[in-house]
Amino acid sequence: MEKFQDESLFESYVIIDGRKFISHGATYPFPSDEIEANRLNNRHFRIRWIWKENFAAPIKEKLAADKMTVLDIGCGTGAWIVDMAKEYPRSSFVGVDLINLFPGEEETKKNLLFLQMNVLDRLPFDDGSFDFVHQRDLMHAYTETQWQTIVIPEIARVTKSGGYCEFYEESDKWEDQGPIYENISNTFSCIMATKGVNSSIATRIEEFLKENGQFTDIKVLVERMPVGSYAGRIAELTLENTLNELAGLKPILKAPLGVTDQEFDNMIGELRKECDECKTWFKAYRY
Ligand SMILES: C[S@@+](CC[C@H](N)C(=O)[O-])C[C@H]1O[C@@H](n2cnc3c(N)ncnc32)[C@H](O)[C@@H]1O
Repeated sequence: MEKFQDESLFESYVIIDGRKFISHGATYPFPSDEIEANRLNNRHFRIRWIWKENFAAPIKEKLAADKMTVLDIGCGTGAWIVDMAKEYPRSSFVGVDLINLFPGEEETKKNLLFLQMNVLDRLPFDDGSFDFVHQRDLMHAYTETQWQTIVIPEIARVTKSGGYCEFYEESDKWEDQGPIYENISNTFSCIMATKGVNSSIATRIEEFLKENGQFTDIKVLVERMPVGSYAGRIAELTLENTLNELAGLKPILKAPLGVTDQEFDNMIGELRKECDECKTWFKAYRY
């Protein structure tokens, strides 16, 4: 595995309340530190367990047999792409991310490359470079306009004719939610909206793909994701992951919510009970 770092991105961080955030103008609101890396890794294995597979595109045999090329956009810690590179050693994988949370695993040295870059600066690949392009959980990384004018057109451009693209996003609106989550979620959506980010983008991707006109045979898969110990171990882990995610957002959420550090922590504690009482769940989408 090789790594490439764009020096202009490297070390552009700020520390707020002990958490490390990127500070080079991106809309992405989450921290980029070891705590967040652990959250992303745990989340990957939970998502894989729920969906039973790392992807839905009908390319399993080809990935195993041929030398296919795969790109993962916003790969984070590389949890998805490392898993894929290990499972399909005959294919080649590239992961790109704004932040260098890339792992240093020997096992994938031969078929996995990481590039540190901003996707919004366009992808540094020729047209039709990849058989499969994957992007998971970048709903807060781009404005709605960037999705339509940069991200989706770039993904279409670098995908081979006859290739596959896959997006995974979760709904920001929870079903059967209680007042605590509703308040936090609405406040976060308002903060992101001031940056031009639509937190409900998960439900709009199909429309963007159709509008783009270069995607055919668009399929939408929806999974019900329960949150809380009321629905077993995986749902409990989904709740833990959300609580960790919210803890990472505390530095930007507490002032707009009008709460102190301690009050924020209390809200998060109460959320645990609330999810069980309301039997909360949300939808996850694969396109
Ligand atoms: C929520 S994480 C998801 C990571 C990974 N896809 C996964 O599912 O584990 C979103 C990732 O997108 C990256 N990101 C955000 N904005 C980006 C941009 N403009 N260009 C490249 N990566 C970006 C972040 O650094 C972060 O690692």
